[in-house]
Amino acid sequence: MRTQVAIVGGGPAGLLLSHLLHRQGIDSVVLESRDRAYVEHRQRAGMLEQGTTDVLRESGAGQRLDREGLVHHGLELRFGGAGHRIPLTDLTGRTVTVYAQTEIVKDLVARRAEDGGDVRFEAEVLEVDAAAPSVTYRHEGRVRTLECDYIAGCDGFHGVTRPAVPGLRTFSREYPFAWLGILADVPPSTEELIYAHHERGFALHSLRSPKVSRLYLQVAPDEDIAAWSDARIWDELAARFATGDGWELGQGPITDKAITPMRSFVAEPMRHDRLFLAGDAAHIVPPTGAKGLNLAVSDVTVLARALTERYATGSETLLDAYSATCLRRVWRAEHFSYWMTTLLHVDPAADTFALRLQRSHLDYVTSSQAAATTLAENYVGLPLG
Ligand code: PHB
Repeated sequence: MRTQVAIVGGGPAGLLLSHLLHRQGIDSVVLESRDRAYVEHRQRAGMLEQGTTDVLRESGAGQRLDREGLVHHGLELRFGGAGHRIPLTDLTGRTVTVYAQTEIVKDLVARRAEDGGDVRFEAEVLEVDAAAPSVTYRHEGRVRTLECDYIAGCDGFHGVTRPAVPGLRTFSREYPFAWLGILADVPPSTEELIYAHHERGFALHSLRSPKVSRLYLQVAPDEDIAAWSDARIWDELAARFATGDGWELGQGPITDKAITPMRSFVAEPMRHDRLFLAGDAAHIVPPTGAKGLNLAVSDVTVLARALTERYATGSETLLDAYSATCLRRVWRAEHFSYWMTTLLHVDPAADTFALRLQRSHLDYVTSSQAAATTLAENYVGLPLG
């Protein structure tokens, strides 16, 4: 069997790449190790930069996003018992949109099926050959080889494509905390996201829809989720979000509960021969600021353009620039995610000097227009490289 681009991984990066290539008349096959229900229900941060919604809309995959996405013009930083609004749109002219990753995946899976796309679930990739490009995989009990011109490694942090790149340099940071995230059937107690810094730790109030809230608590990296009853979670959230002005956090049934590790990671370069890494296969950000999906979308947008140029003109100029083009944007998002994480979380090892500096930094970001604009322009997303 043969295709032009073999795409390993059917999360948002792989599915969107397949869709963007199809729009340019380029064939691909997507090989996803999990089943369809799994990829459609995997919970991840759900805040889209304007550039991300533009890509989805311009590619014709944004109809439901346009109907159901919630456009936001600001966010709140809450500390010392008081809220401080960062007016994202006033500062940058841009907006962000709340639309869950699960919904993007469902939209793309449906769209690929409508367009006759070849997406194989439960297809376990065994080997990739970046030089004589091909992918060997097991599907429906048989081992097959897919020959291709190019391979896109969109198979996430634990995938098989990154180890196929020899001589990678990796850069990473572990954090002394994790996030306990919940989904709850309760209308959000806020219209805009609240990022709270409290001496007991960070908390985030996000949402999924007018009826579903998404909330997070900073916990220890080795935290045992069994120690967190629903009542304990609500008490802790209420304590970290408390203000002096009578604001109350609405409570409701918790429908999902999980602990997310926090990690920063970059692998360079993002290419070896005919294999191109994209999204979490090449880089991870801690979830503060919700950059992960946005980076995956910008990677595959750059890759789709480069492959389009290659098939249209024979030129490999954009393919040769792929890694450097992506890494400029990746490192900006790495810095921003690290910065926002360290601004808002409580490092258990921090001394009183470090805590005072952190508090001064929060005061500065919420009182200086220049500092607020730095946060805002990174949050809404810098232009595609
Ligand atoms: C989320 O809704 O899951 C979310 C939103 C914003 C973040 C992180 C996570 O910064």
